[in-house]
Amino acid sequence: MELYDVMRTTFAAREFNADPLPDRILYEILDRARFAPSGGNRQGWRVIVVRDPATKAQLAALAAPAAKRYAAQVQAGENPWNSVDPTSVSAGTIDRTPAPARLTEPVKQAPVVLVVCVDLKFVASIDQNLPRVGVISGASIYPFAWNILLAARHEGFGGTITTLAVAEEPKLQALLGLPAHVAVAAVIPLGRPVRPLTKLKRASVSSFATLERWGGPPLAP
Ligand SMILES: Cc1cc2nc3c(=O)[nH]c(=O)nc-3n(C[C@H](O)[C@H](O)[C@H](O)COP(=O)(O)O)c2cc1C
Repeated sequence: MELYDVMRTTFAAREFNADPLPDRILYEILDRARFAPSGGNRQGWRVIVVRDPATKAQLAALAAPAAKRYAAQVQAGENPWNSVDPTSVSAGTIDRTPAPARLTEPVKQAPVVLVVCVDLKFVASIDQNLPRVGVISGASIYPFAWNILLAARHEGFGGTITTLAVAEEPKLQALLGLPAHVAVAAVIPLGRPVRPLTKLKRASVSSFATLERWGGPPLAP
């Protein structure tokens, strides 16, 4: 596929048909994805390939608590799980809010689930001493995760980066035998999408790029 076509059409696939995703193609996908950048080229990524239905069910169950809070905050008009504005939603409301099936079912339904991990011993977390949530560490793993989805798209497969289960990371580590210094970056259900892509909805460049400073003139076409 042409690069710009792949970039414009790699959507978040959450429903899959019964087609298998054999190890041969999975290997090919990861063989492409491994050319992603990482800080200092340390390549701290590790991937657990999950096909066991029982493990998939547990991964889905571990996403449910965060999915409940996510849905409750959306219903309250908040940006869910943001680290800046405290939530106004009570624990009771979160408890009573069901976890949306679209946030838990894909992991159960997909023929393969990749648990994309990063060994934090290999990551230069430059912002670790700042008084805000860390963002730099993710830059050493999400280009790799995204490359997986780009390569999958090229092979006729699709999936979604999901992160809700990571709120329960100690349980994920116990489930998969991960050492404490290995973080889970994403749980990616992968398979043959049921529907072809829909047109991706994204804001225009002028809405997010400004000249010279925050609040400066928008970058125009
Ligand atoms: C860091 C990150 C976390 C995400 N977490 C989830 C998730 O937990 N569950 C889910 O269904 N989608 C998740 N997504 C997928 C986004 O919802 C999706 O990329 C976005 O809605 C755009 O979808 P589209 O490309 O189909 O337009 C996540 C995406 C990113 C980049």
